[in-house]
Amino acid sequence: MNLKYCADYNEMSQSAYESIIIDLKEHPSQLICTATGNSPTGIYERLTRHFDKDPECFKNLSIIKLDEWGGIDSKEPSSCESYIQEKLVQPLRIPRARYIAFDSNPVSPEEECRRIQSEIEHKGPIDICVLGIGQNGHIGFNEPADSLIPYSHLAKLAPESLNHQMINELGGEPSYGLTLGMADILQSKKIILCITGAHKKEVIQKFLSKKISTWLPASFLWLHSNVTCYIDSKAI
Ligand code: F6R
Repeated sequence: MNLKYCADYNEMSQSAYESIIIDLKEHPSQLICTATGNSPTGIYERLTRHFDKDPECFKNLSIIKLDEWGGIDSKEPSSCESYIQEKLVQPLRIPRARYIAFDSNPVSPEEECRRIQSEIEHKGPIDICVLGIGQNGHIGFNEPADSLIPYSHLAKLAPESLNHQMINELGGEPSYGLTLGMADILQSKKIILCITGAHKKEVIQKFLSKKISTWLPASFLWLHSNVTCYIDSKAI
């Protein structure tokens, strides 16, 4: 794993953004998996600014949303869908055909997971997976447990996830999570993990210990051969 210690959030976002642009310039038909939340926002802002001067770079980019709060209206301002629409899909003008996303309130969540998995089978594997880490070590909504799930699935949200700032801003509490699974993430060709903020100090110490455990799902990233972990100085 390539660990990049960054002075601050801006440096972290800038370095990760530059690495994505290098790949996009080389292979414009990338499938990028995008987490929501605070950690990647600075990267997405930079991609949007890049679009303003070089829209060609994004003309074949496809996006897959990593996860979603289940049982809420996707139009809620704090849904993952609203976040991705506002920060990526609309500013980068990604058409429906190049956007894969869980519906936040499907009639059958199981069927929705099968639909997303079939999209990955046809359009994957993911080229670049942009991740944050939860305070409990989750990636996506792959929550700490006795065992982890490889493919898209319904997740029982851990208390730490239900404490996320996005939830606090939601009109109601989601009844479950919808998320890509561990194999979907680990089959990505390249993974970018951003760790930022003083509240991540405890989880980062566990992560950096390199002990692989289902109780720290992010620890499985140590098994992948192309992960860059950007760490801002507040998290150390
Ligand atoms: C969100 C997601 C979560 C977050 C994690 C960190 O789509 O997949 O796993 O990446 O909870 O959230 P932030 O970045 O807000 O600290």
